[in-house]
Amino acid sequence: MAEAAAVTSKTLMVEGLTVRRGGRPVLRDVSLALRSGSITALLGPNGAGKSSLVQTMAGVLQPEAGRVLLNGANLVGRRPEAIRAAGIATVLEGHQVLSDLSVEENFRAAGSQWPVAVLEQHVAEVFTIFHELKPKARQKAGTLSGGQQQMVALGHALMCRPAFMLVDELSLGLAPLVVQRLMGVIQEIARGGVGILLIEQFTHLALKVADAVYVLDRGAIRFQGTPAEVQANPQVLHEAYLAQ
Ligand SMILES: Nc1ncnc2c1ncn2[C@@H]1O[C@H](COP(=O)(O)OP(=O)(O)O)[C@@H](O)[C@H]1O
Ligand SMILES: [Mg+2]
Repeated sequence: MAEAAAVTSKTLMVEGLTVRRGGRPVLRDVSLALRSGSITALLGPNGAGKSSLVQTMAGVLQPEAGRVLLNGANLVGRRPEAIRAAGIATVLEGHQVLSDLSVEENFRAAGSQWPVAVLEQHVAEVFTIFHELKPKARQKAGTLSGGQQQMVALGHALMCRPAFMLVDELSLGLAPLVVQRLMGVIQEIARGGVGILLIEQFTHLALKVADAVYVLDRGAIRFQGTPAEVQANPQVLHEAYLAQ
C-alpha cells in the first residue's frame, strides 16, 4: 500500500551506472545509496552529470550498464510512470509545473490514481506543508513566482506519496529567503520518512541539511561521506569545482 511507503524503511541503491549521451560517457560506474527519512546531497560542478543521474534513476535516460535497485528490485528499463508508481518521484531541473492549470489542479492531476477520499486527504496535506499556496489554490501555476512554482513542483511529487524524492536543483534562481523556506520543507518531508536526493547549487546549505554527501565530478563519484567530513576536508569540493 502506497500509504505505508513513506513510513516503511526502504533502500534505493544505484550500482555501477554508466550512461552515454551524444556518444560520450557522462556517468562512469556511479554507485550510491539512499535511505528512508534521510537527505543525501549530490554535489558537483556544472556538467558533472548530476541531472543525467537523476534522469537515469527516473527512467528518462537508459544506462549502458548498471542497476537502480528499489528494495532489491531493478528498475532499469521500466518506464518513468512505472518508476514513479513504484515510489520514486522526481522534481526535474527548472520546476516543471502545468502552467495553465491552477495550483490545486496541478496537485489533483498528480494524484489522479488515488480514490477520491484519499486524493482529498493528500491535497489537504500538501496544502498544509505549503501553506502559502493555500490562498493561491485557484491561481494558474504559471502566474506564480519562481519559488512558489518550485513548491508546486515539490507538491506535485509529494502527491504520489513517494518513498524517495529526487530533487534536481532545488533553489536555482531563487531568492535566499525562499531557498531557506524550501530547505525547511525538504527537512520536513524527510522527517516524514521520505528518502531525498538533493541537488543544490548552494553547497553550504545542502551540507547543513544533509545526512550524507556524494561529490560527482566529470561523471564519476569523487567523494562519499558525511557533511562533517566534507567540512573538515574542504579540498574535496574545491578540487571538484575548480577542475572545470
Ligand atoms: N541532452 C543532452 N545531449 C547530450 N549531452 C548532454 C545532454 N544534456 C547534458 N549533456 C551532457 O552531459 C554531461 C552531464 O550533464 P548534466 O547531467 O546536465 O550535468 P549537471 O546536471 O551536473 O550539470 C555534460 O557534459 C553535458 O554537456
Ligand atoms: Mg543539472
